[in-house]
Amino acid sequence: MRIFLDTALIEEIQALADIIDGVTTNPSLMAKAGRPFREVVEEICQLVSGPVSVEVTALDASGMVKEARELAKIADNVVIKIPIGKEGIRAVRTLEPEGIPTNVTLVFSPVQALWAAKAGASYVSPFVGRIEDRAGDGMELVSQILQIYDNYGFGTEVIVASVRHVKHVVEAALLGAPIVTVPYAVMMKLFDHPLTEEGIKRFLADWEGIPR
Ligand code: G3P
Repeated sequence: MRIFLDTALIEEIQALADIIDGVTTNPSLMAKAGRPFREVVEEICQLVSGPVSVEVTALDASGMVKEARELAKIADNVVIKIPIGKEGIRAVRTLEPEGIPTNVTLVFSPVQALWAAKAGASYVSPFVGRIEDRAGDGMELVSQILQIYDNYGFGTEVIVASVRHVKHVVEAALLGAPIVTVPYAVMMKLFDHPLTEEGIKRFLADWEGIPR
């Protein structure tokens, strides 16, 4: 399973750049960075060798394609995040044959994910946390998408997104999702366990007691 970091904050990316498999951003995360958009994208792409998802803001296919072509010039690892919809699907169908990888985002239903795969998207991002914010079952959606993609042999990779807690990462891994994108605060919890900390302390204390 590949683990991406869901942030546009350079300091968070710097802290983990050597061990993460990619980065995902969106306009809200870019706003939190509070710096010129293009400059931030350039810096992220220099720090991370894996895919870096950057979202377009146009609402029509030709506008999306225009923005995407400009963003793709920034670095080889830029992936264009495109909101699902008829216009988004049209944009994906234009960009993928040009060799510009896309990540179809804001996916909340299995048929939206089906359209993304049919259009040839490289990635699809179901937002599990936002579904669960409304008492839905985000992981059931991921499971259905994985089943549909398997049924038809689609090559589109699922990025489990809108992750809220460690359990989402565990559930994504149990379902065999190929990628999860995790906010920094949750990412830090993936390494820790109170018993690990306690165990290290005890081992070190015992080590000090060994005669040398
Ligand atoms: O990358 C986009 C996605 O992860 C958004 O998450 O927390 O805004 O629902 P959130």
